Amino acid sequence: MPTTETSSPYLKLDEVPHMPIIYLDNGATSFPKPDQVYRFMDTFYRNYGVNPGRSGFDLCLEAGSLVDETRKLLCQFLGGKDSNRLVFGYNSTDVLNLAIFGLIKAGDHVVTTHVEHNATLRPLWKLEHSGVEVDWVDFDALGWVDPQEIIGLLRPNTRAVVMNHGSNVIGTVQDVAAVGKVCRERGILLIVDISQTAGMVPVKLDDLGADVLCFTGHKSLMGPMGIGGMYVREGVEIELTRAGGTGVKSAQRNHLDEYPWHMEYGTPNLPGIAGLNAGVKWVEKHGIDAIHRHEMALWHRLRDGLKAIPGVTLYCAEDVPGRQRISVLSFNVDGLEALDTGTMLDVDHNIACRTGLHCTPMVHEHLGTDKLHGTVRFSIGAFNTEAHIDAAIAGVREIAEMQMNKKK
Ligand SMILES: Cc1ncc(COP(=O)(O)O)c(C=O)c1O
Repeated sequence: MPTTETSSPYLKLDEVPHMPIIYLDNGATSFPKPDQVYRFMDTFYRNYGVNPGRSGFDLCLEAGSLVDETRKLLCQFLGGKDSNRLVFGYNSTDVLNLAIFGLIKAGDHVVTTHVEHNATLRPLWKLEHSGVEVDWVDFDALGWVDPQEIIGLLRPNTRAVVMNHGSNVIGTVQDVAAVGKVCRERGILLIVDISQTAGMVPVKLDDLGADVLCFTGHKSLMGPMGIGGMYVREGVEIELTRAGGTGVKSAQRNHLDEYPWHMEYGTPNLPGIAGLNAGVKWVEKHGIDAIHRHEMALWHRLRDGLKAIPGVTLYCAEDVPGRQRISVLSFNVDGLEALDTGTMLDVDHNIACRTGLHCTPMVHEHLGTDKLHGTVRFSIGAFNTEAHIDAAIAGVREIAEMQMNKKK
């Protein structure tokens, strides 16, 4: 059947921002951003760049309105009910720290997984030294964690399950909902790291059965760096690990109990919030399903192209019916360290990717790629095209052939 316009999996974009390199490192941060993100940040900050919520003059009220509007936008985006429970932080590392240290105490038991990022691992490792017991669940040969394994480890003193939704190395989207259902029945907190999935696949609080959703603004939500946040389910009270100015009830000696201020400290990142506002609107305009379809069509093209190259090893790159993935793909050229492959892709092919452990040491221990100093990771974004993917495949083929010839 001929490919018709409507059957094309690719996005139709009115405006494509300038990409100075073949950028395949969107898992680290999406780049470039939609033009409207740059434009809105610039215009808003020039015209309303005053401290929101601190004073009563018009500009200040406008700035405050944008913050409120963005809370509402993200609250709705994540399926929350009360936009005051959507709190802003710097990034997901920041809010994961607030949630983990504010909810888990000595004597508690926690279950987590080997797919976690250091943003989760390091707070949990720190807690392990102060009387918190942590159980770790591994992933299978294709990259999925079995929810039943997590459920099997829950105990009467389990305070929380802390788990990643989408892996930044192997791209598997975990079945958080199956864990969430049991957590809700047993009154166990579920803290979910949605850094890689927010803006990439639909994420709704109730569908996942989550209590806290931690996001970062600069990846698939298309915002700038330095802005992130979390949605905290009503009734979940996070103990304060910080305190300071909020611009509200300034005579009060203790930090505010009311949300959103309870979880916010000091002057917010107004230009970041403006950029995130425009980024989320861009995602909504194009549709999360359409963006994901675009990226996954390119991912399959990339996966199949790399799979056909002798001397290339892919990690957890098989599809499993009924399971979801995000558009990241890890591989190595046999006999080469990841960093060397990445350097050749950059210098000889003008391709940007990420190499190393990607802040997920346990994933690499499981894959055995820790001994190779990690993997090369391509991560696809909304502005990538078939031509970018074909250039990446050609680049890797050339490197693999050179490596083969060296061995002969
Ligand atoms: C799965 C996952 N969690 C957490 C983070 C941390 O995000 P940020 O550096 O924006 O805090 C990342 C970033 O790469 C990630 O991929």
